[in-house]
Amino acid sequence: MPQHRIIIDTDPGIDDALTFLLALAAPAEIDLIALTTVGGNCTLEQATRNALDVLALAQASHIPVAVGCALPLMRPLLTAAETHGSTGLGNAVLPASPVPPIAEHAVDLLIREILAAPGAVTVVAIGPLTNLALAIRKAPRIVQAVKQVIMMGGALRVDGNVTPLAEFNVYVDPHAAHIVLHSGMPITLLPWDITRAILLTQQDVETLLQVAGPIPRFVADTTRPYIAFHAAYFNFAGCSVNDPAALALAFMPDLATLESVYVDVEYTSALTMGKTVADFAHTTGHAPNVQAVVGFDTPRFMAMLLERFAWLARRVVEQGG
Ligand code: RIB
Ligand code: CA
Repeated sequence: MPQHRIIIDTDPGIDDALTFLLALAAPAEIDLIALTTVGGNCTLEQATRNALDVLALAQASHIPVAVGCALPLMRPLLTAAETHGSTGLGNAVLPASPVPPIAEHAVDLLIREILAAPGAVTVVAIGPLTNLALAIRKAPRIVQAVKQVIMMGGALRVDGNVTPLAEFNVYVDPHAAHIVLHSGMPITLLPWDITRAILLTQQDVETLLQVAGPIPRFVADTTRPYIAFHAAYFNFAGCSVNDPAALALAFMPDLATLESVYVDVEYTSALTMGKTVADFAHTTGHAPNVQAVVGFDTPRFMAMLLERFAWLARRVVEQGG
């Protein structure tokens, strides 16, 4: 029986899609309850389409997809076509899943699943936090009932990736991030500080392509422009696989070195909008509200990721994919 019951709240998005593949490649560790979609890297419609199609590609259309919020709580939606392409999945073109999203709203699914199993459900939040923030406001009891929230977001002691100060997920909906950070939920925060250095290289992709089938081809097609973007924009040797690293913390927590810290977020100033302010110096007097990842075993994670992708690729072929 998988130990970790997980809902992935997501704006797929290339690295989000790789996260779904990792979840499906960890059947002994992860019981993937559902995907809940949110506008972010692409529109909500595109994100929902992408979630359904990636699940279908991996022979996993039994996993429910619940549609969430199209827009942030207060700010206009900012998408990231320059990073994730016009569809949100780079150069990948997938067969359309015949399976629609479920009728239940993402916010209601989060509430229902968390309250139905107190202490058992982990939310891996890898997009803007709009859905989770509204779930907290609609049913505050989920704060005590959720096992943990693992969020990819924030830039604590490094420059941002969407403004000089802000990381994308927090910047898109800083009001939602503020609600989540101050909710009292047990939060593990994986910031851009760490994930910017967790790189999937073209060599990694070429190695994976030695395995036949649709999964390696998808990984190659979806990451090709993502790798090129990171090289051109950040001069990185590969693409940052931010979101799969967040999921890995659910079943391999020893990948991370954690530090308890108080983190707040700016949501009023245009200049510093979305900046996550981390009180590592203990100057504010506020008690810590997150466990921040301050170190990560990238080699061990990347070896696991590629091994799991190859395993999934073979299984999908065996299942007729
Ligand atoms: O800043 C990186 C994060 O923003 C990742 O979750 C990526 O998918 C985008 O949503
Ligand atoms: Ca994402």
